[in-house]
Amino acid sequence: MRVFIHPDRTSAGAAAAEEIITAFTTRPDGVLGVATGSSPEPLYAALRAAHTAGTFSLAQARAFALDEYVGIPADHEQSYRNVLRRELVGAERTGLTEENLHTPDGLADDPNAAADAHDRAIRDAGGVDLQILGIGSNGHIGFNEPLGSFSSRSHVGELAESTRHDNARFFGNDIDAVPTHCITQGLGTIREARRLVMVADGENKAEAIRQMVEGPVAALCPASILQLHPDVMVFVDEAAASRLEHRDLLAAVAR
Ligand code: GLP
Repeated sequence: MRVFIHPDRTSAGAAAAEEIITAFTTRPDGVLGVATGSSPEPLYAALRAAHTAGTFSLAQARAFALDEYVGIPADHEQSYRNVLRRELVGAERTGLTEENLHTPDGLADDPNAAADAHDRAIRDAGGVDLQILGIGSNGHIGFNEPLGSFSSRSHVGELAESTRHDNARFFGNDIDAVPTHCITQGLGTIREARRLVMVADGENKAEAIRQMVEGPVAALCPASILQLHPDVMVFVDEAAASRLEHRDLLAAVAR
């Protein structure tokens, strides 16, 4: 795991974006795994800027979301499909087309079948070449909350109370408005991505980043499983890096 510490979230996001720009310049028809939440916003802004500048395009790419809320109306501005549309879809953003944006169907009559279908679609696409990730303050990735299986496939999950609390800011600070369930890529699914690029910022991520990077591989911190992956880059700001105790060792690994 290579950790890159930046002065702020904008430069961390821009550096992470460079990895995606390089990867999709080399392979324009690759498969990108896309995350939501506030962490990737600077990264997506940098991708849009590169697209405007004519140096980057997702026009030939396919994108698969990490997760989606269950039961949230299709026209709700916080459905992850709508968030990803606003960030990435269209010639005025990154060139990603609507039909090449794949999100789990959180409104399916059978959400378990929808989760299976998402997992299968990723496999049928040949797997994710590069997966963008954020991290929850409790160490979750996607919506894989602590103590879940390290081998899980895409599945229906229940949000931890702390996650619903964290995400209430997207729902008018009304925790009761935050969905209770989700469809998420499983940890086993996420681990199969060929490369993983994580972005995290802010003091409230510092403990999760410490556990993920320096702690044991443990189910209490789902993101710690990334220690077992051969190609993970983590772009953090100083605040999110503030509890790391081995910066010298991390710098050597990152070189
Ligand atoms: C959310 C999402 C994750 C995201 C994480 C952090 O609930 N399901 O994919 O990475 O929690 O979110 P944020 O970046 O808004 O802090």
